[in-house]
Amino acid sequence: MTPENTSANQLPPPQPDTSVLEIWGQSTLEGHVRISGAKNAALAIMAGTLLCPQPCRLHNVPSLLDAARMGEVLTSLGVKIHQSGDALDIDARHITQFQAPYELVNRLRASFFIIGPLLARVGVAQVPLPGGCAIGARPVDFHVRGLQAMGAEVHIKHGMVHAAIPGSRQRLQGAKIYLDYPSVGATETLMMAATLAEGETIIENAAQEPEVEDLANFCRAMGARIRGAGTKTLIVSGVPQLHGVEYTVIPDRIEAGTLLVAGAITRSNLQLSPVIPEHLGAVISKLQTMGVHIERPTPNFLQLHASDALQATDIETLPYPGFPTDMQAQFMALLSLSNGSSAIAETVFENRLRHVAELKRMGADIRIKGNIAIVTGVPQLSGAPVTATDLRASAALVLAGLAAEGKTLLRGLHHLDRGYDNLEGKLKQIGAQMKRQSEDSSDRAGLVQTDVAAT
Ligand code: UD1
Repeated sequence: MTPENTSANQLPPPQPDTSVLEIWGQSTLEGHVRISGAKNAALAIMAGTLLCPQPCRLHNVPSLLDAARMGEVLTSLGVKIHQSGDALDIDARHITQFQAPYELVNRLRASFFIIGPLLARVGVAQVPLPGGCAIGARPVDFHVRGLQAMGAEVHIKHGMVHAAIPGSRQRLQGAKIYLDYPSVGATETLMMAATLAEGETIIENAAQEPEVEDLANFCRAMGARIRGAGTKTLIVSGVPQLHGVEYTVIPDRIEAGTLLVAGAITRSNLQLSPVIPEHLGAVISKLQTMGVHIERPTPNFLQLHASDALQATDIETLPYPGFPTDMQAQFMALLSLSNGSSAIAETVFENRLRHVAELKRMGADIRIKGNIAIVTGVPQLSGAPVTATDLRASAALVLAGLAAEGKTLLRGLHHLDRGYDNLEGKLKQIGAQMKRQSEDSSDRAGLVQTDVAAT
């Protein structure tokens, strides 16, 4: 995010890091890690401030490239943002634009979620189609169909989604919406739009992710009437206007899960807080099945104990409360070093196994059959030059590097910076050996080798 006490719109746009992370593996980690605010909750809540004609203050906003980018998108609409530490003051009183620029939305898929609150607040929204990304095509048809059901006129022209409340009507209309799949983004877009609609909106087969519930709690704090958040049926009774609020984002369950795997893969003792262990049910259960010892001494604290031999286990990614797709790559790194064979089925995104090739470069034994990866544990991984293909793949490669013998050179760090708040710094504090280098000063020979292997 932006430095303290400066306004987001006065800063140069965040530059993706083109450097390389050197990781020297096989250090034991030890100590406590503070978990940051949840990326996916913060991004949705930032979009949600568009609903509000008064200033809002958000606390526990993680310091991430994605959050800075969402700030840029809001700023482009006339919103004023001021950052102070992990607090963001967002003033959406004067929305001066209803069209989001392609260059910004293209870099942050979640910024498409502004379409719901922007339309509900000002009656018109033009947001570019975000397009596919490294993990799949990621269409937005549920968002569009839901807004149409609420009376919006929506058409797509020249890559731009044009949405408007037709005629002299000022508000969207409550509607009964069934989602073919419990999409997180579609649930959030439609829930936000429904807060200011006329009448009642029922969203069936809604996403139950904790971040959806956090967004609902934020909206409720602003005066929205929402029931059923965190269940499959969301009921929103529209109100004419919302009011400003101060709100604290929940801890990031995926960051916490990634650190649990960091502890498990390096056979270390770690403590994490603040966490909401209920949000990590599937992750903790899988780790325990593998033989990892995890305790919860106090409600928002997790303690992980070093465990030696870990056992293979099968994983299927599913919507919450199932096993999160955002933890699949990290578990693949861990299962690569466990006893026996595991089947990992990725069912949420169609193209989220690209890290397999990189883990194999480090000596992992993985075969892919369709959307299933068969991982056979090996006694040791070896450090190698590797490239992150998406956000969670970047975390998986850091984890593999921590466990591997020798040096790993990780490229594609902009993926890591998109979604982790100083993961490197946090790992170094507990004993990890790693260093960010400019490409020029790093091991050129190794990098050239990666390029050749990738073609
Ligand atoms: C969110 C999370 C992401 C997480 C994902 C699934 C944010 C900012 N990102 O992404 O980290 O991996 O949930 O837990 O919160 N789909 C459609 N049509 C639509 C919308 C979605 O077919 O209109 C499909 C997608 O292609 C995908 C599946 O539904 O196969 C789930 O996607 P969705 O839950 O919408 O993910 P996001 O909200 O984009």
